[in-house]
Amino acid sequence: MDFVEQLKSSIDIVKVIGEYVRLERKGATGRYSGLCPFHQEKTPSFSVNQQRQFYKCFGCGVSGDMLKFVMEHDGLTFPETLRFLSDRYGIPMPQRAEFSDAESRMRAALYEMHEIAADSFRDNLRGPIGAEARAYLERRGISQELIDVFGLGFADPSGQALMRRFTERRFSNEQLEASGLVRRRNEGNGHFDAFRGRLMFPIHNETGKVIGFGGRSMREEDQPKYLNSPETPIYKKTTVLYNLHRARDGMRKNQRAVLVEGYMDVIGVYAAGVKEVVASCGTALTNQQVRTLHRHADSVIINFDPDKAGENAAERAIQLLLDEGMHVKVLSLGSAADGAKLDPDEFVKRFGADAYRAKLDSASGYFHWLADRARTKFDMRSAEGKVDALKFLLPAVKNIPDKLERAAVANDLASYLGVDPSMVLDQFKRAATDRKTTSPAPPPRPELPTMERVLLHSLFSSARVRQQILPQLTPELVQGFVSHEILDAFRHVESDDPARIFTEVEGRLSESSRTLLHEALAADHTEEEQEEEFSWTQAVACLERLQADFRKRSVADLKAQVKVAEREGRFGEALALMAEVKQLEELDRAERDQRRRAS
Ligand code: GTP
Ligand code: MN
Repeated sequence: MDFVEQLKSSIDIVKVIGEYVRLERKGATGRYSGLCPFHQEKTPSFSVNQQRQFYKCFGCGVSGDMLKFVMEHDGLTFPETLRFLSDRYGIPMPQRAEFSDAESRMRAALYEMHEIAADSFRDNLRGPIGAEARAYLERRGISQELIDVFGLGFADPSGQALMRRFTERRFSNEQLEASGLVRRRNEGNGHFDAFRGRLMFPIHNETGKVIGFGGRSMREEDQPKYLNSPETPIYKKTTVLYNLHRARDGMRKNQRAVLVEGYMDVIGVYAAGVKEVVASCGTALTNQQVRTLHRHADSVIINFDPDKAGENAAERAIQLLLDEGMHVKVLSLGSAADGAKLDPDEFVKRFGADAYRAKLDSASGYFHWLADRARTKFDMRSAEGKVDALKFLLPAVKNIPDKLERAAVANDLASYLGVDPSMVLDQFKRAATDRKTTSPAPPPRPELPTMERVLLHSLFSSARVRQQILPQLTPELVQGFVSHEILDAFRHVESDDPARIFTEVEGRLSESSRTLLHEALAADHTEEEQEEEFSWTQAVACLERLQADFRKRSVADLKAQVKVAEREGRFGEALALMAEVKQLEELDRAERDQRRRAS
């Protein structure tokens, strides 16, 4: 067994994918389903087949084994995926050159550089040059424990420290420049550190590797306030959420995520015991980030800064989250008695962890927040103002999937805005027709005839079918089969273990046949855990049916040949052909009689 096979047979795909997608077991057949991480959806069409160890999405059509899942989901190369899984599940990987290509060597170097940088920043913060930063953190109420949890650090102001370490390790110029951690000098040779004299927040990917940094200036005159790592091969800003790797478990346990704006807010909220908190690192929330959230929770509480920027960002976030079909609440903390606007971090510090958690638990639905916003945005005394407010709120309302809830909200809305309920309903109807005309058609799926599907299932489930029926499925019998490539692959199967059989067959298929196979085996309406006996009976029935069809085809064929022969005056030949037809017809009759007697 080579390493890839060893890896696949020692890890359960349900466990691997379960770290990314909330999977629900469906029935006793080892099938799981959840929301597809590769496209946007509200109802689960992503299914994982435990016995065959593969996944398939009926919505967008993706399918494959655990390796393909991790590769495509995390954007890793094949060798990186092997390494990742072998690390994650403790399966030692042989040191072989074939597992490292240029791309993964580059990434490995970048990960290493980021690890070196994080260590170095941490050391600086502890040492003599970190005194000012330590004092700053203390002023902001960040304990040593929090500093350790979040791996905070300080970038040496000289601009040489990191570069020196990288030089010792002999990273190439290409690697240095790709890292975003150092920059090339404008004049002369050499590089200098990109972050200097800043408080450093390491940013991790979902699996906990450092992939970038946010660096906060500690003086007003040092601009910008936050300097973030550039995009690199390991840091894709639109997909990363700050603190996700620490928040994942909490998100699943508490069935909610708390979304804040800044690094400091994440730390403050986390310190209040709310670990399911993430931020989007200073970029506007993206679709991909929303999908990532949805993989771990159904519900999000948005708690942005109570300023104009924060409110606009919240409005956008609400729409994105609703489009993804998530439950959305908004917590707005307002101002303190002294008029100071409170961001989550401030609030926790002033009023304590318990007060913040109570606020979170009593956060109201996004809808009230939006309605409040509408009332301040538009002049609610005029008729036009009311219509504008309604139009502003409509996109959010029409996303409510439940009819009754939607009607209730419409009613609420009418009284809240002081308009006639019929006006709200009228706007609803218009929105509904818009929605109908714009909804895209579902993607087409390859169709597999029932006969072929039944045969494939029987072949998987029964060794006897593979040994005795398969050899009888001659090329002329299975002529025109959509699944002929899959049948041929079965002829090479050596194993008796279902998961192995699947891998062996799958390994021989073209992309389109593979899709067909997944389609056939993952389809919800087929019972896949078949009894040997049942499989046998089914396969025999298929075989007989195919043989009968073949005889019928042959008879029709021969009869056509008879006609041609007669027309062309080859009577002897015609007679011989006729005899053959008779023989076939008799054989067919005999077979049918026998079957009738048997049943
Ligand atoms: P403090 O101001 O120290 O409390 O930090 P904060 O995290 O609360 O920051 P703030 O509310 O000002 O901004 C929210 C987030 O936006 C920050 O955490 C950063 O991710 C990002 N951000 C803020 N200022 C800048 C900037 O000047 N440049 C960039 N690139 N991002 C910024
Ligand atoms: Mn702040």
